[in-house]
Amino acid sequence: MCGIVGYIGDRNCADVLLDSLASLEYRGYDSAGVAIYDNDDGAVKCVKTKGRLSALKEKLKSVGTPSGTCGIGHTRWATHGKPSDKNAHPHSGKNVTIVHNGIIENYSSLKNELKQKGYDFSSDTDTEVAAKLIDYFYKGDPIAAIKNAVSKIRGSYAFGILFHDIPDRIYAIRKDSPLIAAKGCGENFIASDIPAILKYTRDYYLIDENEIAIISRDDLRIVDFDGNEVNKPLQKATWTVSAAQKDGYPHFMLKEIFEQPKAVKDTVSTRITENGINFEGIKDGEFKDIERIHIVACGTAMHAGMVGKYIIESMARIPVEVDIASEFRYRNPILGKKDYLIIISQSGETADSLAALRLGKKMGVKTLAVVNVVGSSIAREADHVIYTWAGPEIAVASTKAYSVQLAVMYMLAGRIAFENGKIDDKSYAELRAQILTLPDYISKMLKTQETCKKLADKYSNAQNIFFIGRGLDYAVSMEGSLKLKEISYIHSEAYAAGELKHGTISLIVDGMPVVAVAAQEELFEKTLSNIKEVKARGADVLLLCREGEEGIDAADEIIQVPRIPGIFMPSLTVIPLQLFAYYMAVKRGCDVDKPRNLAKSVTVE
Ligand code: M6R
Repeated sequence: MCGIVGYIGDRNCADVLLDSLASLEYRGYDSAGVAIYDNDDGAVKCVKTKGRLSALKEKLKSVGTPSGTCGIGHTRWATHGKPSDKNAHPHSGKNVTIVHNGIIENYSSLKNELKQKGYDFSSDTDTEVAAKLIDYFYKGDPIAAIKNAVSKIRGSYAFGILFHDIPDRIYAIRKDSPLIAAKGCGENFIASDIPAILKYTRDYYLIDENEIAIISRDDLRIVDFDGNEVNKPLQKATWTVSAAQKDGYPHFMLKEIFEQPKAVKDTVSTRITENGINFEGIKDGEFKDIERIHIVACGTAMHAGMVGKYIIESMARIPVEVDIASEFRYRNPILGKKDYLIIISQSGETADSLAALRLGKKMGVKTLAVVNVVGSSIAREADHVIYTWAGPEIAVASTKAYSVQLAVMYMLAGRIAFENGKIDDKSYAELRAQILTLPDYISKMLKTQETCKKLADKYSNAQNIFFIGRGLDYAVSMEGSLKLKEISYIHSEAYAAGELKHGTISLIVDGMPVVAVAAQEELFEKTLSNIKEVKARGADVLLLCREGEEGIDAADEIIQVPRIPGIFMPSLTVIPLQLFAYYMAVKRGCDVDKPRNLAKSVTVE
């Protein structure tokens, strides 16, 4: 999604902005731009273009790069108006230039009001409306102008703002869209994401709602709408610069697939103790007497929630509902006083997941966030947070975040089951020991890399691929299918294997690839029958099953998985599914880390 950066200091601002924007490229974007106070004439110079940062660099070369040391920059992921030079950010009014992440829902009525006041518009964006609205209210007092403008705006925003007559300050404000103000030495920054500032500093403030950050070369202040100083703790980014680099891998996605053993180890090893499972700050007994659990999330995180449902229900015998966040928030859900709401999110900023969390809080249920990004909105607003220690996930396609979310689901299921008397000390101890072995098994599964590459050679021309499975195998099939379609652009669907005969099997034709996941001991024979049914109609079956299963010669290709307890199988079977999707995308020449139309963090509805 869109990225915001801002810089003031002694360095060449254009260089810093381009460099910082490059570290946000992974978020996905289709145009880019910068606005810089030019030292030559003191005016704000705005240069923007459709396309990648390389296009912006070319344009800066051809029009002349502004020489100043203060400015703002943006990568835009189109929402209002197609990707084009005119719709790229920054946008300006007479005395104000801004960059914006988010969506202004009432932009159309605001635009009409501003037109009546004499403003003209040159783009199709909601952002230009915000720029002109701030401009309209600007009578020499930036705080008053920002305060008045945002009081009229409905929607989500993070703004970086330059007032043309204040060349030594950047202003920033946010609502429902992340933004930080970072503190350097003789230089300060704003950014929508931590990787943008890592090269320069690790110290940053989280800007909260109803706060305005005012950044100059030597000062970084955060004030409320009355101009009162807000004192808040300086945060320290723990990410390393190398964590946000490819380290010799051709793509972030492949690097992140291979980081999974470590990510899972980091997530489980400090929490699993001799006596139990310790989630920082979550007291013993927290999960006792829960009547119902609601897991709400989007995309891959929702698929991790599906796995969570199966294992929590089977171990703790507590009903679990899994919802897509964008559905949950608008379906008037029924939440009881003893219910528990779990939000899963890698970024911690997904708009629908955040809204679902707020709804749950409003309805009075306890909330728990399972989140990867420390200090993100979902992490801050939930009653409790369990961080997944995956480190930064840069590729748009989520891989290691899924694996650590699964690891948290196993630990959570164990803890809920134990606190509700559904497993005894012995089984609880066994479960903990088994979770600790997962990183090694995941490492073993990474050895399927070459096989997956070869399978991609065979299947990469497919136009449709089905994934089938039952129970937990179905849950992981959904993730395998999403991975494949989002990066290789092959149409793909996941079906509960037993459901095929109720309609979908009519789509099976000669040569159609079907990926069958059949790694659950008690369901294996059932899925095998479904495999035979699709084979009989010409399907080419790639089977994932446990080592030593019988009758598997029905499949055309086979990947075998070590025999570990069924509840952990998704952690193993997902690895070849990720590698398969990756090599399919590579083989088809796709932009693996930045698939078309997608963004890493979906901060709009
Ligand atoms: O940051 P989140 O985990 O809340 O993001 C949710 C989805 O947008 C995300 O998992 C998405 O589906 C992935 N790109 C899939 O690989």
